[in-house]
Amino acid sequence: MSDIVERYDIPERHFWLHGPRSGPAVEFDAGTGLWNVYGYPEAHEVLGDPATFSSDTMRVVPKELLPSEDDFSLNGFITQIDPPEHGKLRKLVSSAFTRKVVADLEPRIAALTGELIDAARERERFELVTDLAYPLPVIVIAELLGVPSSDRDLFKQWADALFQRDAEISLNRSAEERSADLQATMGPWKEMSAYLAAHAAERRRRPRADLLTRLVEAEVDGERLPDEQVVNFAIVLLLAGHITTTMLLGNTVLCLDAFPGEQDAVRADRSAIPAVIEESIRFLTPFALLGRTTTREARLGDATIPADQMVMVWLAAANRDPRQFRDPGVFAPGREPNPHLGFGRGIHFCLGAPLARLEGQVALNILLDRFDVLRTDPQDPVRFIPTPSLTGVRRLPLVLG
Ligand code: HEM
Repeated sequence: MSDIVERYDIPERHFWLHGPRSGPAVEFDAGTGLWNVYGYPEAHEVLGDPATFSSDTMRVVPKELLPSEDDFSLNGFITQIDPPEHGKLRKLVSSAFTRKVVADLEPRIAALTGELIDAARERERFELVTDLAYPLPVIVIAELLGVPSSDRDLFKQWADALFQRDAEISLNRSAEERSADLQATMGPWKEMSAYLAAHAAERRRRPRADLLTRLVEAEVDGERLPDEQVVNFAIVLLLAGHITTTMLLGNTVLCLDAFPGEQDAVRADRSAIPAVIEESIRFLTPFALLGRTTTREARLGDATIPADQMVMVWLAAANRDPRQFRDPGVFAPGREPNPHLGFGRGIHFCLGAPLARLEGQVALNILLDRFDVLRTDPQDPVRFIPTPSLTGVRRLPLVLG
């Protein structure tokens, strides 16, 4: 077994990678005011019961922790919406973001991957995140939405401001911490909303063959999406469409570096690529944490959670629960089945999963073609994203082979 913790100097806050947890599967943390769910069956239950475990997390956040409603609205932010409104919005956006729309992207994903690798090879160095794992998904999602992919440095600034934070997740934070947080996030949020609102307005005037146009035109039962909802859904796509997939690509290469036997096996039999991608999502779960709130008192594992509590579902820990996965600390693409929770479960199951899987599979296949070996550079160490709720690398230099 490869000890990835020492090998890559993985921070303590990514506790799920540091071996089996002792302690209960569901636990209240008085320091942060949050309930934490670490076990697989318990996480499975929470995600399957949206009536008890609501996605509307803003409901229980003290008002003084939130920005003013003039500055910020989550209207149409699909991950925060409960039934019945969720089903209506999901149907509407699914009608624009179909499996066919995704499947048609395959040749473009392959061409882009080739171009990005060629450009890096000319520079005679290959830092996987900067050279491929970041630009590939961001260009794909920008082209799909219909916003200029040349603006991607801007998208990165916004995404970093919103996600690359190392603050502890807590309801009990000081006034100074809260105000610093709000200042750091509201500016980029407003800029991003204004940017996408301008593009959406332009599509209403002059439709094009892109996803933003399909979103402004989509209709279910004769109803269209209000502008604010189009913008907020486009924000979800732009952010979710690249951050997580960037992590997936980096993490997959890291898994194959740590488990060279699995690298040899998939190199020899490319039909194993989909299983490698699924196991990478289980083993290094990009979106480590989801939030829910209790609408009523709930019994979960050995705990009783009162109503109106914030519940943190640690997908990354659940994906390493030995009650569900044998030898969870081993990267084993041969697991069959592999019912990981990396894309969530139930009504909010990741809408972009087919795209993420396609990007992961196409990029890995081409990387295996282009490099005789995928190996990290011992002289130039891998660096993990500090954010406690994300599992991914922000720097992954490879030895060219
Ligand atoms: C939802 C993970 C890629 C769009 C989710 C959820 C997870 C997740 C865990 C569930 C959220 C919840 O239950 O609260 C991932 C991972 C990805 C990935 C690990 C890559 C490896 C993508 C991509 C897109 C996308 C590429 C779009 C282009 C969405 C959307 C939702 C979602 C729109 C909300 C669905 C809903 O609330 O009904 N994703 N995602 N994701 N994801 Fe992804």
